Amino acid sequence: MSKKIRFQAEFEELSWEELSTEEQQLMMRARRISETAYAPYSAFQVGAALRLESGEILQSSNQENVSFPVGTCAERLVLGYAGANFSGVAVKQLAIAARRRGDEVWAKVSPCGMCRQAINETEMRFGSPISLLLQQANGDILRFNGIQSLLPFKFDDLNA
Ligand code: THU
Repeated sequence: MSKKIRFQAEFEELSWEELSTEEQQLMMRARRISETAYAPYSAFQVGAALRLESGEILQSSNQENVSFPVGTCAERLVLGYAGANFSGVAVKQLAIAARRRGDEVWAKVSPCGMCRQAINETEMRFGSPISLLLQQANGDILRFNGIQSLLPFKFDDLNA
């Protein structure tokens, strides 16, 4: 007998004022670093800032390439930097913001599939969910408590 199984996604929609001071600070860092994006091909400038368990904040923007697939998202760049330079320190929160070059307003952003898999790997590495803050076009911020709702039924076990 076949069984129907449902996934449920859960996240919060928050106004800027509803973020904690720490969260506002992290989102500000993501917004600011988006200005350093090297995005001559897409003009989509993304900033990602993460807070480590130690309180330290790291950040990156997206860096594109004339050979398009070589370009790397802001999220994977900052996660890779954290993994290499702070290898024993858990990542607690990741804020992502983006806007089109020349725009005043923020764009809606949500991590791509590859970055979701990378976020999952960091969660598995430290055994703790990463809170995700996603800037939205209307000024609100979406908060996900970990990657699960954004990446259900993920590949996470070579031996299962
Ligand atoms: N991009 C990111 O850096 N992060 C995201 O969450 C979405 C997409 C980049 C990849 C590419 O440089 C540009 O945005 C357009 O897809």
